[in-house]
Amino acid sequence: MHTSERTPPIHTPMNQFPVQDGELLIGGIPLTRLAARVGQTPFYAYDRQLLTQRVESLRAALPKTLKIHYAMKANPMPVLVGHMARLVDGIDVASGGELKVALDSGVNPRDISFAGPGKSGADLRRAVAAGILINVESFREVAELSRIHAQTGDAVRVAVRVNPDFELKSSGMKMGGGPKQFGVDAEQAPGLLAEIDNAGLDFEGFHLFAGAQNLKAEAIVEAQRKSYELALALAASIPAPVRTLNLGGGFGIPYFPGEQPLELAPIAANLGELSQCAEQDFPGAQLVIELGRYLVGEAGLYVTRIVDRKISRGEVFLITDGGLHHHLSASGNFGQVIRKNYPVVIGNRMASSERDEQEVATVVGPLCTPLDLLADRMLLAKAEPGDLVAIYQSGAYGFTASPRDFLGHPACVEVLV
Ligand SMILES: Cc1ncc(COP(=O)(O)O)c(C=O)c1O
Repeated sequence: MHTSERTPPIHTPMNQFPVQDGELLIGGIPLTRLAARVGQTPFYAYDRQLLTQRVESLRAALPKTLKIHYAMKANPMPVLVGHMARLVDGIDVASGGELKVALDSGVNPRDISFAGPGKSGADLRRAVAAGILINVESFREVAELSRIHAQTGDAVRVAVRVNPDFELKSSGMKMGGGPKQFGVDAEQAPGLLAEIDNAGLDFEGFHLFAGAQNLKAEAIVEAQRKSYELALALAASIPAPVRTLNLGGGFGIPYFPGEQPLELAPIAANLGELSQCAEQDFPGAQLVIELGRYLVGEAGLYVTRIVDRKISRGEVFLITDGGLHHHLSASGNFGQVIRKNYPVVIGNRMASSERDEQEVATVVGPLCTPLDLLADRMLLAKAEPGDLVAIYQSGAYGFTASPRDFLGHPACVEVLV
């Protein structure tokens, strides 16, 4: 090889699902057997044990006093939320619909928080009646809650979601800094705090969520420190002591070639220091982080069956019964600027590691659009109709983040194994 030739970046190894007799095992069940048990393809499978292990290893790494909340927007499947509810310290919901699932999971309503722009009057009423913590994001929300409080006499628990005056660097999705629809600008927070006080709402603290899908520990550390300092600066205007300080999350998982897993140690060390500072600065307050994909993303597979195999001008196309209508993210159409491949394998041919058992193939779905692309010229085991394509890192923002009615193909199902 010429020295100037660069080796293309590859996917970080996906070891979470063991392989037995050439098949991926999900919850100990070989993939073809699981497909038979589900009774159809395509489907999403989430591994219960992997979910448990993830939360346990995170807890072991992070300070004991830190509260870990699950942002259920990442995966709101009710049985999965029920499983997570037993592992984490709280659930963050983004709508009245998610609130219902969270309440059904049996989690204490005191440990549910509600964030998201444009909360409807109806959702705010439900949130107050349930007794959850509402992360208020506008003056209108405070005015609405003030009316609800006056009408019902119910206590209204609020935290202020602040749009910070800094950005989360290296973040796949920036949700704070600059002009944003999320939270109230830090400059406006003192005014909002005064309104909360006037309205007789119960102020409990701050919520800062700078961004999502970050794989750089130092960027997360910096955002958490700045968030903490901002909360400290705003503490001069608070109507009651801070009881909860939610520093957001943004922990990413590796999806694309060249991406490496997030290093937890520096984040844990920083959170340890902040927890100690908080004992002085915010006595009695709980420090919270709020994670979605980091907790559930790696525990999920999307499985779709090959229906057809075609050669077009020398290139192999594997056409499957699933596609972007079930897994918009893997197709690249959920916020990616330049499309990149998720880690994809032929899940029932995992032993095909010899070069003559492999080929470069493109995996597409059945939709009439070139956007319906699940793997673009990847080296895969040679596959035939009937084989099962498995897409890793599919436990978050898959099933419910996809246009499932688009083109009227059969529905996809989800199982927790
Ligand atoms: C307020 C809030 N919390 C949590 C999350 C979860 O992010 P992730 O799944 O990347 O951890 C998001 C994502 O958009 C969010 O907006």
